[in-house]
Amino acid sequence: MSRIGVLVLAAGKGTRMNSAVPKQFLEINGKPIFMHSSDKFLDLADVVCIVTDEEHVAFMQALLEHNARMGKNNKNVIITCGGRERWQSSVNGLRALDELGGCDYVLIHDAARCLVDRGTIERVLQDTITYGAAVAAVPSKDTIKIAGEDGFVASTPDREKCWIIQTPQGFSREIITEAYQNLIDNGSNGMNITDDAMVVENFSHHPVRLTMGSYENIKVTTPEDLIYVKEKLK
Ligand code: CTP
Ligand code: MG
Repeated sequence: MSRIGVLVLAAGKGTRMNSAVPKQFLEINGKPIFMHSSDKFLDLADVVCIVTDEEHVAFMQALLEHNARMGKNNKNVIITCGGRERWQSSVNGLRALDELGGCDYVLIHDAARCLVDRGTIERVLQDTITYGAAVAAVPSKDTIKIAGEDGFVASTPDREKCWIIQTPQGFSREIITEAYQNLIDNGSNGMNITDDAMVVENFSHHPVRLTMGSYENIKVTTPEDLIYVKEKLK
């Protein structure tokens, strides 16, 4: 049996949400957003590692212990500290999984995507096992334009080829570990790394499969996203 590890990235500052606490700690129906996300993986993963900032480690640990006392089975959940950039949080999470004996496949998920559905998770996991690297994605409904630095349109890619990228993103452990090692060895050259697949695309030769996600699997980023998510979680 393959061992499945999950990273739930919850170490961001949520600057664009501009809330009193980072967005992943905002509660919906009495449960913080990050936990709506991590709970979706509990029964599928051998280990779920929640990556958070130093300030919130103790809070999360206490919450897990409280939930365990209330009868929730979260024995396979661990918490570790993230980094300044999202990709550094991924690296720290991967190291934490390795310290626990590693896993064959890892799914990396944004804590802020609390509407992720089981179908998307299962499709990404299946494609990860088949292809070694897979990302949840949906075809872009809108036309995408590449902007020039002058604020004018530089070009318009064919919409048929444009996909909106989500998480979870799944990788075989060797592929993602090697890609991140290459990134660390070679430096990111100022590249704005916004997802894990980018690291595999740029620092390995391994192709990344696009797996059908869901239009509802939005990333809670700005206040209007919260209205949508609250409605969906009613
Ligand atoms: N994240 C992380 N570590 C970081 C930055 C981001 O774990 N150093 C996580 C966030 O907590 C979030 C996910 O990565 O769940 C996606 O990032 P994003 O939506 O950009 O969240 P923030 O960086 O927190 O928000 P903002 O960019 O508005 O500051
Ligand atoms: Mg961010």
